[in-house]
Amino acid sequence: MLLFTTKKRGSSVLRPASIINQRSFTASSTNLQTPTDCRFKKPSRDLRGKVAIVTGAGSQGDNHIGNGRATALLLAEDGASVVCVDKQLSLAQRTVSMFSTQSPTGCKEALALDADVTSEQDCRHVIDATLAEFGRVDILVNVVGIMGTRGTAVDVDLTEWAEGLKVNVTSMMLMAKFAIPAMLKNERTDEKPIRGSIVNIGSVAGLLGGTPHLLYPTSKGAVINMTRSMAAHHGADGIRVNCVCPGMLFTPMMYGAGMTPEVRESRRKRSLLGTEGNAWDCASAIRFLAGDEARWITGAVLTVDAGATAAVSVSTGTA
Ligand SMILES: NC(=O)c1ccc[n+]([C@@H]2O[C@H](COP(=O)([O-])OP(=O)(O)OC[C@H]3O[C@@H](n4cnc5c(N)ncnc54)[C@H](O)[C@@H]3O)[C@@H](O)[C@H]2O)c1
Repeated sequence: MLLFTTKKRGSSVLRPASIINQRSFTASSTNLQTPTDCRFKKPSRDLRGKVAIVTGAGSQGDNHIGNGRATALLLAEDGASVVCVDKQLSLAQRTVSMFSTQSPTGCKEALALDADVTSEQDCRHVIDATLAEFGRVDILVNVVGIMGTRGTAVDVDLTEWAEGLKVNVTSMMLMAKFAIPAMLKNERTDEKPIRGSIVNIGSVAGLLGGTPHLLYPTSKGAVINMTRSMAAHHGADGIRVNCVCPGMLFTPMMYGAGMTPEVRESRRKRSLLGTEGNAWDCASAIRFLAGDEARWITGAVLTVDAGATAAVSVSTGTA
């Protein structure tokens, strides 16, 4: 029962909403929503009962936090059962082992799976294993992505080019190919019209030119428009598809091969806020788009870049 707090002789008492004087309620609140608006359910971040698959859920280094690991931990924190997929099983297992320390009140069930998401067979296996273990799929987060081959159109290696597109683009399509039919088995009601949610990781490099090598921005641009196309194809069936585009994060993928303090500093400065981002920033946006708080959002491209793509440059003068 709803309770309101009212003041009576200097003390606080709780009274049932139904016995509050209706005349004084309506007379002084003409701009308030009518009581019938209570039929709209307040959104919740709670993910209990949902099953999420995160690809690239490992992270280079035992105690390092990449985008996939951070995402898995945040989804688990809010109660989802999380399937951690990585081509290096030990990395996915390490992520699962962190659930008990980092999400003590959240995730109750988790699974680490060894799969290469460029393989159709492996992607099918991920969905089959998830259904066998948890009986449903609600959320798919496609994190796997690599910098890929170097070079411009003039000198890029064609075999490596094709491999890079397979890892960064085709893998997301393959995971969706098997996840969407599983999501379509989920119940759909007037109150819960959404059957499933997919979040793909793009990059600000997919929105702008200026990256020295051609493969990475090309593939991330494809992820962005693949997201919109998938959102259009599957929206009527209650499947939401969104994209998170991180900027210059400080993650194991970037510092793993070594990053000088000068490069780190220049990356930090390439934004309006001038602060450094990390995997938790990216994962927080993913968690929002994955869950019911974003139930009315699909086909969106959410930049997580401290404003790097919001302005051409920061003007300090008057012009
Ligand atoms: N770090 C950044 O600054 C940044 C910026 C923009 C976008 N991104 C994107 O974020 C995503 C992940 O970045 P990260 O920093 O967490 O990377 P990461 O390298 O720390 O983690 C990626 C994980 O994916 C796994 N993986 C790689 N290929 C795989 C495959 N074929 N099948 C299964 N697993 C595979 C790796 O083993 C690794 O554990 C990528 O899509 C990347 O493009 C990162």
